[in-house]
Amino acid sequence: MEKFCIQGMKPLFGKVQAGGSKNAALPILAATLLSESPSVLHNVPDLLDVQTMVKVLETLGVKVERLSRGTYRIHPGDLNTSNAPYELIRKMRASFLVIGPLISRLQRAHVPLPGGCAIGSRPVDLHLKGFIHLGVKVTTHSGYIEAWSDGLKGDEVYLDFPSVGATENIMMLAATIDDETIIANAAREPEVVDLARFLSAMGAEIEGAGTDTVIVRGVKKLRGCEHYIINDRIEAGTFCVIAAATGGELTVQGVHPSLILSVTTKLEEVGAQVKRVGDQAVCISMEGRPRGTDIKTMPFPGFPTDMQAQFMSLLCLADGVSVVTEAVFENRFAHVGELERMGANIKVEGRSAVVLGVDTLTGTQVTATDLRAGAGLVIAGLAAEGETEIYGISHVDRGYEDLECKLGLLGATIERVSE
Ligand code: UD1
Repeated sequence: MEKFCIQGMKPLFGKVQAGGSKNAALPILAATLLSESPSVLHNVPDLLDVQTMVKVLETLGVKVERLSRGTYRIHPGDLNTSNAPYELIRKMRASFLVIGPLISRLQRAHVPLPGGCAIGSRPVDLHLKGFIHLGVKVTTHSGYIEAWSDGLKGDEVYLDFPSVGATENIMMLAATIDDETIIANAAREPEVVDLARFLSAMGAEIEGAGTDTVIVRGVKKLRGCEHYIINDRIEAGTFCVIAAATGGELTVQGVHPSLILSVTTKLEEVGAQVKRVGDQAVCISMEGRPRGTDIKTMPFPGFPTDMQAQFMSLLCLADGVSVVTEAVFENRFAHVGELERMGANIKVEGRSAVVLGVDTLTGTQVTATDLRAGAGLVIAGLAAEGETEIYGISHVDRGYEDLECKLGLLGATIERVSE
C-alpha cells in the first residue's frame, strides 16, 4: 500500500502542463471498437483508469499496442465477444461505455450493471432509454444487462438530465446507424466534443456537439483514424486551486481558459489574481487569506462536480462562510470527514456543505475515498501546517499523472511512500 507524505505550508511557483484528458480518452478508447480497422490515439494519459479501459478492450479480444508514451494503436478487428467482464466494469463505471460499440459491432452486448460507487448510486437508465429509442431491446437479469438488436434506426432522444456518459454512448451507437439521430438535452462537456471529433474523423457526420442538441448522421461502416486527445481541464483546474491554496503563483499550460472559466471566476471571487496567458494558459496567484464564497456544481459550462472537493479544501481556509452545493451527484462529500480531521469546520445539510473558514489546517493522517476527494486532500495537505499522510492514493492515480513529480517541480515537499 502506498501513501503520500506532504510537508505543507509551502507556496508553489512555476509552470505546469496539463496532460491528456482522462474523461476524453476513456470514451474514445471505447469508440475505437466501432470500426474494424485500427485507430491511433495520441496524448492518452498514463493513468490507472486508462489501463483499466485497455484491459477491457483486451478482454474483448482487441489488441492494444503502446507505440510510445501516450500513443496507442488499437486493432478492433479481432473483437470476438459481447461479454464485458464484471471485475473490470465493477472497478470503473466508464467501462460501461463499451456497451454502445458492442451493440453496433456484434448486435448484442452482455454487460454488468456498474452498480454503486463512492459518490452515489449512478444509474444507467438514461443510456438504456436512449438505446431503446434506437431500436435496441434491453433486459436486465442477475445484475447484467442483455442488449440486442435486429435492426437499428435513428430517432429523437431526449435526456432527462444532460448525462455525459449517456450522451457519449448514444452518440457512439448512432454513429453507425445509417440514419439521423437527434439527442436533445445532451451534455455539453468538452469531452463530448472531442468524442464527436473522433467519430467525425471515423466517417460519421455530427453537428451541434458542445450544445444541448447533438445531431448524428451515421454511416454503416466507420473507419479507424488518428486522433489527438484534448488536455485535461480538471487537472488544469486542480493546479489553479493549488496556486491559490498555497499562496503561490502558477502558470497552468495546455488548457483554453474558457474551459475552466467557472473555476477561475470563483478563484477571483475568493481574492486570487487570474491572468489569461494567450489561448492555452492561465496564471493564478494569491496573496493573503482567501475570502469565502458559494459554489454550486452543474453540468458544463457550470462549476464541475469534479472540482468540488478541491475547491472545498481552499474554502476551508477562507475568511468567512461558504456554501458548497453538490447538484450533480447525490453523495459526494466523503472528503468532508477527512478535512474535519485536519481541523476544518464543515456542516453537511443534504446536498449542501456549510464551510466556516479556519485560520489553519493541521497535518494528520487522512484517507482518500475517491479520485477527486483524494485531490482535495492533497490540496489541504499542501496548505496545512506540518505533515499530512494521505492513504488510498490509488484513487488519485486513477486521474492524475505524475502528480507528485509535477508538484515537486513547483516546490512542494511530497513523497510517495510504500508501506
Ligand atoms: C462523467 C465523468 C465524471 C464526472 C461526471 C459529471 C467520465 C468518464 N466521467 O461521469 O468524471 O463527474 O461525468 O460531470 O467522463 N445519471 C442518471 N442516469 C443515467 C446516467 C447518469 O441518473 O443513466 C445521473 C448520475 O447518477 C449523476 C448525473 O446523472 O447524478 C451525472 O452523471 P453523468 O453525467 O452520466 O456522469 P458520468 O458520465 O458517469
